[in-house]
Amino acid sequence: MVKIDTIELPDFPLLLAPMEDVSDPPFRALCKEQGADLVYTEFISSEGLIRDAAKSVMKLDIYEKERPVGIQIFGANLDSMLRSVEIVEKSKPDIIDINFGCPVKKVVSKGAGAGILKDIDLMVSLTEAMVKHTHLPVTVKTRLGWDDNSIRIVEVAERLQDVGCKAISIHGRTRAQMYKGHANWKPIAAVKNNSRMHIPVFGNGDVDSPEAAKRMRDEYGLDGAMIGRASIGYPWFFKEVKYFLETGNHLAPPTMGERIEAARRHLQMAIDWKGEKLGVFETRRHYTNYFKGIPNFKEYRMKMVTSDEAKDVFSAFDEVEEKFGDYAFSLG
Ligand SMILES: Cc1cc2nc3c(=O)[nH]c(=O)nc-3n(C[C@H](O)[C@H](O)[C@H](O)COP(=O)(O)O)c2cc1C
Repeated sequence: MVKIDTIELPDFPLLLAPMEDVSDPPFRALCKEQGADLVYTEFISSEGLIRDAAKSVMKLDIYEKERPVGIQIFGANLDSMLRSVEIVEKSKPDIIDINFGCPVKKVVSKGAGAGILKDIDLMVSLTEAMVKHTHLPVTVKTRLGWDDNSIRIVEVAERLQDVGCKAISIHGRTRAQMYKGHANWKPIAAVKNNSRMHIPVFGNGDVDSPEAAKRMRDEYGLDGAMIGRASIGYPWFFKEVKYFLETGNHLAPPTMGERIEAARRHLQMAIDWKGEKLGVFETRRHYTNYFKGIPNFKEYRMKMVTSDEAKDVFSAFDEVEEKFGDYAFSLG
């Protein structure tokens, strides 16, 4: 068993990564149903929250069925971060996560996200202040370092633990790398192998197959895997990884019926949650993966992603079911 403070997770838990415009309540609920042990919201701006910016506040919504859930916030200003913690607490998440990993310029230039990797003392003091300010467990998600010349993640993780951080998820890339190259899990294993570490250390970056998750567990000895891109439009990834870790065999891929059903429910939950316009728009990015591999599918995908009206998307699902209902998906 892996424990984040008092939250009990199974051995080698699978975490849904925070992903902007992806890890919303409907998608988190689907991933949870398919085996994700812990889900995180997308990052939420502390400045947006304290200004009561509607878009930021909406991101605080959570469904009971997705617990345990962590709300991720970002910012570089201590006062704003502490005030946003108070706002976040009202949504009753199980965890508050701090984003110290976002590489995008508009975040980094303000010293937030991965920008803080240039000032480790600030990173530690901000974490400490947040830990002291809330009764909820605080976790951190970060990268290996700012660039190849500044990888001090073993020391950083230990310092974060010492000020009360309850778990750390590490993306095996530097900020300079953005999303290029391959994630390097060796420095994450070094964090785990530090004999002073006792909080869970989760690996992140390029877990794109059940085999990769197994390597992260067996060869790198990490406490769990945080999964991002491989789950987009494919919530079944969690179930497939779990099955492989338990049996060494691959689970059959979801049938067309299961995919259509998931797509319908995803869209309906999104509409119920944020209205037809946004629901239709923000669910689009998932369809490519839901229906990946079907030959000559473009015409149908276009129908799903070009209309603003839910009825058109639902009728495209019906058509696909009718035409491709018997399609046999192959593994991988
Ligand atoms: C579309 C997208 C949005 C993301 N948004 C966030 C975010 O809000 N917060 C965060 O900590 N990381 C964010 N990330 C990074 C992921 O959480 C993860 O660290 C990264 O994708 C590597 O994991 P993967 O190889 O499993 O995708 C995002 C990644 C993607 C692809």
